[in-house]
Amino acid sequence: FAEPVLAGRRVLLTAGPTREPLDPVRYITNRSSGKMGFALAAVAAAAGAEVTLVAGPCALPTPAGVHRIDVETAEQMYAEVQRHVAGQDVFIGCAAVADYRPAEAVAGKIKRSGADLKLHLVPNPDILAAVAARAEDRPFTVGFAAETDRVLEHASDKRRRKGLDLIAANRVGPGLGFDTDDNQLELIWDGGHRQLGPGPKSALAAELITQIAQCLQDDKPE
Ligand code: C5P
Repeated sequence: FAEPVLAGRRVLLTAGPTREPLDPVRYITNRSSGKMGFALAAVAAAAGAEVTLVAGPCALPTPAGVHRIDVETAEQMYAEVQRHVAGQDVFIGCAAVADYRPAEAVAGKIKRSGADLKLHLVPNPDILAAVAARAEDRPFTVGFAAETDRVLEHASDKRRRKGLDLIAANRVGPGLGFDTDDNQLELIWDGGHRQLGPGPKSALAAELITQIAQCLQDDKPE
């Protein structure tokens, strides 16, 4: 990154999927690879920020200079974000957090029987909305929205509903978004909106970090 646009700033991110255990050997998860969040963490560190990355299970190397905290479940991710959020300048919720978890993780392996099996799922905490709702010491809060249709409209609704400063929306579908190297993002913030890509996630990450740095500067001129 050519310019230290985040020098002296602290950035906290979530990335990757979460894993919600059903029993000791099975879990519910999703197709998130963590690539976008890890690319953002790498770029933020290269731009001079002190970066903390709370990562769900993903097979990616830790970017240079990034403090990585590994978690499995949404509840663990929520707890780590709560533990580290004070004093951060920017929070980027990039993780594909499981919306639901099994009401109880069974202690022994669930046995096969001929009968139907019903799963009782309960909602997970919304990590991003909790950060955005902080009354004090609230970082500039950035979320992602994976949408299949009417991307701009759904994403700006989500930005308002969750109280975000900026939302990065992407269209998901066959060959797009999840577990791919390329992506296309629609950024929406208070001051406007802008399309990034299509292009490699690393290039989009650099542009998104530049936009966040710009918003910070507009927000709180030093
Ligand atoms: O509402 P939806 O899940 O589409 O919102 C996506 C955004 O919210 C992402 O930025 C994701 O990281 C964040 N999120 C979260 N905690 C949840 C669900 C979503 O932080 N439980």
